[in-house]
Amino acid sequence: MKLDNRAQGPGFARRRLASGATAVVMGVTAVLGSGLTTAAHAADGAQLTGIVLGVGANESQRVVSWYSLANTAQVVEVAPTSRLVDGKFPADAVTFPATVAANSVNGGYSAHATIDGLKQNTAYSYRVGAEGSWSTTYSFKTQDFKGNNLDFLFFGDPQIGSSGNVAKDGAGWEDTLNVALAANPNAELLVSGGDQVESANNEPQWDAFLAPDKLRQYPWAATIGNHDVGGKAYEQHFWTPNTDRSAPYYNGAATTRSGGDYWFTYKNVLFIDINSNAYASGSDAAHIGYITDVVKKHGADAKHTVLIYHHSIYSPASHANDSDNKQRRQDFPTAFSRLGVDLVLQGHDHSYSRSYMIKNGQKANKDEQPAATEVSQGPGGVIYVTANSASGSKYYDLTAPDTTKDPNFGPDPLNPKSHWANSVENQEHVRTYVKVQVRGNKLVVENIRSGTCAAPNAAVELGQESWCGPDSGASAAQPVGSTVDKVVIHSNGDDNGEADVAASASPESSWLQ
Ligand SMILES: [Fe+2]
Repeated sequence: MKLDNRAQGPGFARRRLASGATAVVMGVTAVLGSGLTTAAHAADGAQLTGIVLGVGANESQRVVSWYSLANTAQVVEVAPTSRLVDGKFPADAVTFPATVAANSVNGGYSAHATIDGLKQNTAYSYRVGAEGSWSTTYSFKTQDFKGNNLDFLFFGDPQIGSSGNVAKDGAGWEDTLNVALAANPNAELLVSGGDQVESANNEPQWDAFLAPDKLRQYPWAATIGNHDVGGKAYEQHFWTPNTDRSAPYYNGAATTRSGGDYWFTYKNVLFIDINSNAYASGSDAAHIGYITDVVKKHGADAKHTVLIYHHSIYSPASHANDSDNKQRRQDFPTAFSRLGVDLVLQGHDHSYSRSYMIKNGQKANKDEQPAATEVSQGPGGVIYVTANSASGSKYYDLTAPDTTKDPNFGPDPLNPKSHWANSVENQEHVRTYVKVQVRGNKLVVENIRSGTCAAPNAAVELGQESWCGPDSGASAAQPVGSTVDKVVIHSNGDDNGEADVAASASPESSWLQ
């Protein structure tokens, strides 16, 4: 297995010997570090766009990615915000050199740099470019690097452009981010369910997706969807840590499509993000091999394992019985149970579902009731969540279980209009996002409305949906911030935050009580 570790390792970027632009940047870095400005025009003329803050390999890193019109030496410059005076960076601000490469599509160059060595509970300011042509200054904050509490937010299929109106889709997307982060300002990660845009290489759609400033303040954990995969723009816009870009993780030529599986850790959670677009010709087995390898090497440091990919295997709507999904439903669940995965976050079906506790592809406890607000996680138990549209660009309506299409995805005996695997299925044609709170051994998963039937809600505004609101529109829309579904997942029977550290030390045996 070939790991591309360019975005990991303390101080790696600064030590790296490289040719071309990166080597030049090292000189700039040294100059800036000493407070001199002799390289002032290193990036003159470079127009910098699409700046996005991404996750690094752990909580002390961030990756910044951006587009540049010019192939010049560039850096990201960082300093504690408290040390800026009248918006000016201090002379000893730290710089991290960017890797700048020609784009495969749409011209220009893409750049990324890894910020390393961050301190906890600190507000930072940063900018990209070089002396004479800096970007606007942006900021982010770090929080506790240790401990058992972590809030992160999960967003399904913004898919900017899918309504046919990029501006309206972008407005809904920005509003969801603003609403979600106003309600949860201390969320530490924004996690993608995939399908950032409708058309893989359409830069106006990417511009609208990346327009919200929240994407420069909170780290985005990118996930590749089927609408992102068919070109190189996804990889040009997002540099991800610990990424394996070998053949099984692409569905097609790596020269013309995006791909890759990656992982990172944040406090006591191991996040693994896989490219579910690659599923045929042994790719599902390869993904399981990747996950197995990551869990074996890094699971001992984590209390929870969260898996993210685009194609929901227990999706409740239009994609419920797609042939590729039927295959993943066979290929994945037993392995996920064996590997001690706790929570699977998925997208693609533009509707919300939360599964029962699933073990080896079966309901773990046949008595678990629909929409239970508290569930216990026994050995091998996994909860699968599908996110609804975060932008309002497109919704899919729930579908009835259909055993003629898949005998293995029939009705729930306790709630026959729902698929057997799902405790909750919901579609109201309003924007939502998923909040996950990690609290010791507990995980709290909540689906929250970020919009109503009113604008911005592109699919409703444009008449693509004939109803809106709960109960297929029979009830009035619930307010922004209200809860669609909330469940507390109790892992291993206690929540004091320490008791299962030993149990999770060996992921393969983490379910031994
Ligand atoms: Fe999709």
